[in-house]
Amino acid sequence: MFKVLVSDPISDFGLQQLNGAEDVEVVKITGLSEEELVAVIPHYDALLVRSQTKVTRRIMEAGVRLKVIGRAGVGVDNIDLEAATNRGIIVINAPDGNTVTTCEHTLAMMMALARHIPQAYAKTVAGQWDRKSFLGVELRNKVLGVLGLGRIGIEVAKRAAAFGMTVIGYDPFLSEERASKLGIKPATVDEIVRTADFMTVHTPLTSETHHMIAKPQFAVMKRGMRIINCARGGIIDEAALIEALDEGIVAGAAFDVFEHEPPAPDHPFLRHPKVIVTPHLGASTVEAQENVALDVSEQVIHILRQEPFKNA
Ligand code: NAD
Ligand code: MLT
Repeated sequence: MFKVLVSDPISDFGLQQLNGAEDVEVVKITGLSEEELVAVIPHYDALLVRSQTKVTRRIMEAGVRLKVIGRAGVGVDNIDLEAATNRGIIVINAPDGNTVTTCEHTLAMMMALARHIPQAYAKTVAGQWDRKSFLGVELRNKVLGVLGLGRIGIEVAKRAAAFGMTVIGYDPFLSEERASKLGIKPATVDEIVRTADFMTVHTPLTSETHHMIAKPQFAVMKRGMRIINCARGGIIDEAALIEALDEGIVAGAAFDVFEHEPPAPDHPFLRHPKVIVTPHLGASTVEAQENVALDVSEQVIHILRQEPFKNA
């Protein structure tokens, strides 16, 4: 019998294949500390997580039976990949299942930012009928800069075109030919920060993308830019962004992700009038959560049974 521990909230519908397998026992315990995970992990052959569980070297070293870690989502930055490789533990993710959902959240954030929807809602429900403070801007005829044109970045670019936006983008791995087929004008990071009206980031968080947008980029940025981050906290330097907002360089920012999650209660984003936030909800739709859970469940079963599987 294979034992699978699910340590983050993962769709039960998506886990049905694991739950229904005769040779698998699934145990769902969420909210465990590192200490608690170290204590229970020796009993399990597989661990399934979203982004809350930080799968550290200590946990993997304690996981004497652990063969596979399944990430129900894209980013594997919450898993110590070097430790997994050293221990021979396979790490799999579900890269496709939440693409459209996260793209749609990005567009929702961009529109909410352009029209001050969260701020206007807060005032209206507080009993203030304020029609003067929330003059917005149209998306039509604006330039959208996209950093990272992978699965989500491309979907965002396609939909932005439907709003009448001109899309420029930077991705070291996207050919000019493919970009032009997608209607995206290739640009450098410098060109994007100097010319875009809106900028959205869709790269992974790596040593190269960490603080990819920081003081030097804000120093040359087009005045009045609006910035969206539904990718990973840390791609944009949060402290430098606050300064740029206060100096009037950046007109507004919409963030779904933070350098440290959850952010501290006194994090400046949480009280800044030009910043709107959501608590890492990019992938949170019924459809996406079912998709990613189905995807990892299928692969985890294959791996446990030593059958061929899709990604590693
Ligand atoms: P992806 O791998 O398909 O695309 C990432 C793209 O970034 C790739 O095309 C890659 O070439 C590009 N890239 C890498 N380094 C770069 C650099 N230095 N400059 C510019 N581009 C660079 O990934 P995806 O599925 O599109 O996901 C994008 C991001 O969104 C990831 O960080 C992922 O973890 C995050 N994400 C967040 C949520 C959420 O809930 N907010 C949901 C899903 C994904
Ligand atoms: C991801 O990388 O897939 C996202 O951060 C979404 C999630 O963790 O649920």
